[in-house]
Amino acid sequence: MTAFYLSKPYQPPQAPQNLPLKQPWALLGGISPDRFMKQYWHKKPLLVRGAIPAFALSAKNDEVLDSPISYEEIVHFAGQEEVESRLIQSKPWHLDHGPFTNKSIPKIDRSDWTLLLQGMEAHHPAAAKILSWFRFIPDARLDDLMISIAGIGGGVGPHFDSYDVFLIQMSGRRQWCISEQKDLSLNPNLPLKILKNFKHEQEWILEPGDMLYLPPQVAHDGIALDSGCQTWSVGFRSPSFKELLQEGLWRLAESLEQLPELENKFADPQQLATANAEQLPDELIKQLKTQLDTLQLHQIDRFLPGIAAYLSEPKQQAYFDGPKNCLSPKQFLLKLAKTALLPNPQTRILSLGKQVFCNGDNVTKGQPPSVAAAWSTLSANKRLVTQQLKSIDKTSLYEAYLAGWLIFED
Ligand code: SIN
Ligand code: CO
Repeated sequence: MTAFYLSKPYQPPQAPQNLPLKQPWALLGGISPDRFMKQYWHKKPLLVRGAIPAFALSAKNDEVLDSPISYEEIVHFAGQEEVESRLIQSKPWHLDHGPFTNKSIPKIDRSDWTLLLQGMEAHHPAAAKILSWFRFIPDARLDDLMISIAGIGGGVGPHFDSYDVFLIQMSGRRQWCISEQKDLSLNPNLPLKILKNFKHEQEWILEPGDMLYLPPQVAHDGIALDSGCQTWSVGFRSPSFKELLQEGLWRLAESLEQLPELENKFADPQQLATANAEQLPDELIKQLKTQLDTLQLHQIDRFLPGIAAYLSEPKQQAYFDGPKNCLSPKQFLLKLAKTALLPNPQTRILSLGKQVFCNGDNVTKGQPPSVAAAWSTLSANKRLVTQQLKSIDKTSLYEAYLAGWLIFED
């Protein structure tokens, strides 16, 4: 007699506030985050069987766990404007960008297609919870959680990413082939970045609850073996120095607006008659150097606030809506004494020492110390409950609530 198993959606837990960095974690194959960072992070791949033990534990109890999100829900997300989605067909290779109508997404039992949804932490609480497991890695490195769903044979082809990525198998099986090959040349005639000469060195079949960590530039190819195969990828970005320096310099230039003394004009009463009129005057060079030294523009501390602001920018498609029933400053404080204030899942918050940057703004600048302290707690814990604040009107914390950057827990 065949057993009849009813599958249940897996409900990922929120990670504890203080992560045990020195203890072994099942998620990392029985090693600690400390050891993972030293031995594997940004260095070499790691395959973890049973990274989410709940899948195997449930199977023992004749209960089948499935992804927290069903095919139908994923199709629904792919139809929304605010969800970045792509549909890839593999025979022949074809790429489309969403939003998609229900009809344009292949049925689950069709083969050779995959649908990818980016930034899912902003749209589904289970995805946000899974991200909380990875807070032993700096928030500044985090990009997003992408969900892929595929029919048998579906995949994005052999490729490499410039990301560190944790590929978590959530539903069905996927075969992963990887290679640390040097030849990363791409096939020029395809709508996707697909390697011209992929020669895999290792291969594994991942079952639900397994995970594969890949550092950047490791070539990989994941092919769905079951219909409705779901892989959840937690991706970590590393910006180029060009991007960091350009963005930092832009913001540094903008910060000069706040220095009215810079409106003073260059003056050269000491300029002598010159026989080399074509040359930039020495006097100008001398005075500019004095300005640069005074402003300390070459100092890293002058530069870092711009970098922190840049890295705290939300994703391009992020959309914030103010609260429906807006609380007055007084009501806000009463609620904050009992209910947690959380960043909207699309909000990014980063700290630079005691300065906090939220969605691209320095939210601690010019704020009372109690408000700055509240922001630091929000940045570190990604939640805040406090009775310490006495007045909130016109502060950046209340403004962030009005803008929908911060929301109260349900
Ligand atoms: C996938 O989930 O199908 C693709 C993920 C990746 O290869 O980066
Ligand atoms: Co990839």
